[in-house]
Amino acid sequence: MAETARKIIIDTDPGQDDAVAILLALASPELAVLGITAVAGNVPLALTQLNARKICELAGRPDTIVHAGAERPLVRDLVTAEYVHGKSGLDGPDLPEPSMPLAEGHAVDFLVDTLMREAPGSVTLCALGPLTNIALALIREPRIAPRIGELVLMGGGFFEGGNTTPAAEFNIYVDPHAADVVLRAGIPTVMMPLDVTHQALTTAARVAAIRDLGTPVGAATAALLEFFERFDEEKYGTDGGPLHDPCVIAYLLNPRLFSGRHCNVAVETGSELTMGMTVVDWWRVTDRPPNAMVMRRIDHEGFFALLTERLARL
Ligand code: BDR
Ligand code: CA
Repeated sequence: MAETARKIIIDTDPGQDDAVAILLALASPELAVLGITAVAGNVPLALTQLNARKICELAGRPDTIVHAGAERPLVRDLVTAEYVHGKSGLDGPDLPEPSMPLAEGHAVDFLVDTLMREAPGSVTLCALGPLTNIALALIREPRIAPRIGELVLMGGGFFEGGNTTPAAEFNIYVDPHAADVVLRAGIPTVMMPLDVTHQALTTAARVAAIRDLGTPVGAATAALLEFFERFDEEKYGTDGGPLHDPCVIAYLLNPRLFSGRHCNVAVETGSELTMGMTVVDWWRVTDRPPNAMVMRRIDHEGFFALLTERLARL
């Protein structure tokens, strides 16, 4: 990794698309992954922390620090998504059990300690799952908020609606109270909602290009994507499924791939009907202050070209 590499922490619930995001980050010399913090989401924590380590080893980076975090959301019961990701969360390829250890200490302590130690503004948080760990860190030590350089999160949906309920996207739905804490914390935030990720489809040609890399990482990634996309292909009737979480890492590598609008996002935490809905004031019809750069468009050709080129480096 380069001397000037941007320091990031990846908070994640792998998940096939989380896995591809981790691979993209570890393949990119512009980024220095200070650590990975696992959270319960797609599958329970025992599996997400294990899966994060499997992916670090697949990338040839067993030196990566992986901490386990929250086992359940702040208020609500945990909702998982084995129906999308399979029982393991990483169904598809046959990845070996990791031999790298889980780092000692709780992910929330790691987040707080790292943000308090590193220079203010120098650490970027990449949130790929429910925001429980990040909310807990903010509650435990509010002084971290102004020290976070940027938070780039995959979550929410506005024009596209939800993917877990008609109103809510999975990551926000699982822990809406955490999302509410995070979006009110005054952190410079970039949000990658379904509006963007539904344009980033793992078409057969794109998966074939990744498999044709001819490397173990290429073969494993293609197998991950083929398992992952089957559910959404049937649901949406598309060639390929949305590749959500790697959009967060791609934004750090080339923000010009994305465009959106700086506006207010509020999270519904009261109504069971619309629980976890991200209410985006796209047209600025309220006086609620902007709190996130909400992305709406992606150069999906450029995104997959970048991803494939980076995976080839592993
Ligand atoms: C998000 O939910 C999870 O299933 C994916 O990993 C992604 O982070 C998409 O709604
Ligand atoms: Ca995820």
